[in-house]
Parts: sequence; C-alpha cells; structure tokens
Amino acid sequence: MSSRRKKIYEGKAKILYEGPEPGTLIQYFKDDATAFNAQKKAVLEGKGVLNNRISEYIMTRLNGIGVQNHFIRRLNLREQLIKEVEIIPLEVVCRNVAAGSLATRFGLPEGQALPRSIIEFYYKDDKLNDPMCTEEHITAFNWASTQEIDDMLALTLRVNDFLSGLFAGVGITLVDFKVEYGRVWDGDFSKLILADEISPDSCRLWDTVSNEKLDKDRFRRDLGNVIESYTEVARRLGIMKEMPTVIQGGVQ
Ligand code: TMP
Repeated sequence: MSSRRKKIYEGKAKILYEGPEPGTLIQYFKDDATAFNAQKKAVLEGKGVLNNRISEYIMTRLNGIGVQNHFIRRLNLREQLIKEVEIIPLEVVCRNVAAGSLATRFGLPEGQALPRSIIEFYYKDDKLNDPMCTEEHITAFNWASTQEIDDMLALTLRVNDFLSGLFAGVGITLVDFKVEYGRVWDGDFSKLILADEISPDSCRLWDTVSNEKLDKDRFRRDLGNVIESYTEVARRLGIMKEMPTVIQGGVQ
C-alpha cells in the first residue's frame, strides 16, 4: 500500500513518505514497539492505528488553542498527512510527577509530585543513547537558537497545561511526556511548530484513581495489556468509534 511512495525516513515506530505536494509528508505509524534504545523489541498489533488516531486527536485539540503543529489531516488508519519541517534534534521532556529516568537519576520515589513542572532537553542521537543536554550545548552546537529554546520552553508548558487538563478530565494523570519541534520557513524567517507524535508511546499516563499505567511503560516493564491500555486511553478521550475493528482484526 505504502511501498509505491518514496520513503524519506524510517524511525523505530514510524515511517515518513514523500507527500502528495511539496512541503508535505505522510507519517505512517508502525506496530513496532521498542524500548531502551531498541534493545527490546516487539510488534504490538494495532498500536500504530491507535497512536495515529490518538495523536491526531491531541494535535487537533492543540491546534484549537493556537499551538501550531505539523498535523494536516488523517489519511487512513495508519497514515496522516503532515507538514514537512526541519526537525530540531532534541527530545523535549516535560515532567509533573517523578517517574522513569528522573526518579532513577535523583533517587525519587515514582509517583512523587514535583514542586513544579520540569522541562529537560535530550539530544536525539540513538548512537549516543539520546544524552541529556543543557541550553549551553544546544546553542554551542547550533541545534537551536536561544530564541528557539525560549519558544520550546513556552510552547511545552502550554502543551503541558492543556494536556494535563484534558487528561484530568478523563481520569488520567499526565505524569510526563516528550515532544519534538520542527522549523518551518517563510522566506528568511522561521518559526517552530510541534512535530512527531503525542501518544501513549511518548507520554506517561496513569489512571488518576488506581495509578494504573496506561502507556508504553506497560511494554517497557512487561506489565502486559499494552494494546488494551492504549485502547482505554482512546476510549476515554472519546475517539473509540473505529477502534474495535483494530483490536479484533489486525487491520492494515
Ligand atoms: P524517561 O523518564 O525515560 O526519561 O522518559 C520521559 C518521557 O519521555 C516519558 O513520557 C517517555 C518519553 N520518552 C519518549 O517518548 N522517547 C524516549 O526515547 C524516551 C527515553 C522517553
């Protein structure tokens, strides 16, 4: 189905194909799941369909509050049309509750609320295991300008405020999440927009009452019921309509 098109880039969970017109790409969501820099791998049937749909929903809602992003429209179960951007080689992580690598690094109990939201930057390079970096590294190595860092901080906090509320409304705590940004050019001027995906692969989402994990930690930590949990996130967000087919049939 997608093989006729020119592949631009293949990542661990997604493929980018040439789009139908200049300045666009098609983002294809795979069922592949990886963790710990691809040391752990599996195919989770239906994950791509769920993440395509969940990311569409979140990007559309963010667009609605003026957070510009690369999403244009969903094309089918696994693909979305996106704007081509010049990706900033950073993973921007925002945390509200101690978990994962932050809990490990500073010896904090998982689940402890942080005194305030914390944003961290990681340099996107699998060979180096995505090392954490500071604003000094980012500007010295020209990955982004000081203005772009300020924009990323402000945008990520807006995304955090909005998504924390959105998830709280459906009984989910947004523990932390990762976003990526890309540059779009208008003549000599560029601006940053949100890119990549926002899905249970890139967020920690805990049921507010039980603290049950509804995200990729179920895969990372072998907790089982990964697809069921992603489906539950989609259901609570009210985007379940076409989901049952996915779970039962392994839809392409
Ligand atoms: P961490 O606690 O492992 O640093 O992860 C922080 C957040 O970033 C968590 O929501 C998962 C997400 N994340 C990604 O999206 N991709 C990655 O490669 C990693 C390591 C984390």
